[in-house]
Amino acid sequence: MDTLTPTHTAATAGSYRPALHYTAQDTWLNDPNGLIFHEGVYHLYYQNNPLGNVWGNMSWGHATSTDLLTWTEHPVAIACDENEDIFSGSIVYDRHNTSGFGTGSVAPLVAIYTSAFKPGSAHEGTQAQSLAYSLDGGYTWTKHKGNPVLNRGSAEFRDPKVFRYDGDAGSYWVMVAVEATDFQVVLYKSEDLKDWELLSTFGPANATGGVWECPDLFPLPVDGDPENLMWVLTVNINPGGPNNGSAGQYFIGHFDGTSFTSASTVTEGTQDPDRLAEYLWLDWGRDYYAAVSFSDAPDNRRLMIGWMNNWEYANHIPTTPWRSPMSLAREISLQTRNGKLCLVQQPAGDWAAVAGQEPFSLSGATIHEGVQVLAGAAGTVQRIDVSFTPGSAEEFGLVLRGDGAHGTRVGIRPDEGTLLTDRRESGRTDFHASFASIDTAPVPAKQGTYDLTIFVDRCSAEVFAQGGQVTMTELIFPAGSSTDLAVYAVGGTATLSSIQVTQLA
Ligand code: FRU
Repeated sequence: MDTLTPTHTAATAGSYRPALHYTAQDTWLNDPNGLIFHEGVYHLYYQNNPLGNVWGNMSWGHATSTDLLTWTEHPVAIACDENEDIFSGSIVYDRHNTSGFGTGSVAPLVAIYTSAFKPGSAHEGTQAQSLAYSLDGGYTWTKHKGNPVLNRGSAEFRDPKVFRYDGDAGSYWVMVAVEATDFQVVLYKSEDLKDWELLSTFGPANATGGVWECPDLFPLPVDGDPENLMWVLTVNINPGGPNNGSAGQYFIGHFDGTSFTSASTVTEGTQDPDRLAEYLWLDWGRDYYAAVSFSDAPDNRRLMIGWMNNWEYANHIPTTPWRSPMSLAREISLQTRNGKLCLVQQPAGDWAAVAGQEPFSLSGATIHEGVQVLAGAAGTVQRIDVSFTPGSAEEFGLVLRGDGAHGTRVGIRPDEGTLLTDRRESGRTDFHASFASIDTAPVPAKQGTYDLTIFVDRCSAEVFAQGGQVTMTELIFPAGSSTDLAVYAVGGTATLSSIQVTQLA
């Protein structure tokens, strides 16, 4: 790779570097890869350009954390070479050494990644699945000599997520990957991670407005009942999200060791553009993509991280020398809400450990028409827990990272049953025509009220509405001096039932 020229594009300096979200020190990143909890450490590998801050030279970068809030960057784990770029994939702990990569008493970690073969290489024009292994707990990696291990001769076959299936049908490794332009998830099984046998395919179904990428498949208890498991298939799509560009959809159903059967399919085959709101979305914001879950998370928790960016403008966001943060890690569960099963998400991590003293709080206040700054609630890295009760206003909510009337609006339109994020006046929006958007999601009232938990960081806002039933993740680029937090109402009044603002560091 040392023949390549670094490609750092200029961007305005600024204090956009997040406090509580992972960024590479001075390079580009996209998808989270190989998420695994191993020997007490969370490992986050990711699509990385080790030589620049735009997409290219795809390799796996690496960071670790013990608390999911603070991360340490390590040297590149798996590097591209003259034959292949290292595209997305996953890691398993091969505790019984089924692959034979282990030695003596050391069982290997095995990475299953997509080789995107380069022009001039033996497999030019194809994307195929390959292996690398680590015998030192994930810090150094050796590519398998027999790569690729699974080649269908396809140019769009990628993003393998492998897990151990132990069920009625037996015990073996299962891979979910995509034929991206066919809007199809393909499932394979293996005894040794090297020989793979096709099990089944799933799709097209529901959203097909863009290529299918980065799938995941896992069981979750329904409403916390370990005797009642259902399976969730997540599929990222680009473009075609509910608010344009990259997004993630999911299906809820059953997996019998061979096939995934969806109980949540609304449309088979090509999508119905009028029914996008009926499909299940991992997040309704513009900036939550390629989300996948950790292998081997403690206590059977299902933890996910997404890339906090959107391919529409990803290479242009105004940060330097790094580009793109990861989302917060989220714990997900399957719950019945308003009579329907859905994923419910909560930010994971020990928030008390990073909470400043003396949160700002207020309750039972009337929000008058216009914008009212909450004196004493200003900040740039905060957790906001707020509850609103509608009144006569057609829209009400918060203005984040503001200065006077400007800022990012996070609001509710109760008559429409809509949650919205309006980043038209959120700060810098000039770097791409599609960035200054108003994004919306359907949100049901809960006993007449709307509860939002919002994590604000230096270049983002992640909204968890109604206890995490609906989430909306958005990048924003406010001036460092835009620190006000305000409430607003349009066309009448509303009630700020309660608000608590905790500064985080
Ligand atoms: C998703 C994706 C994957 C691919 C990787 C390449 O963002 O396009 O499908 O493996 O990025 O960087």
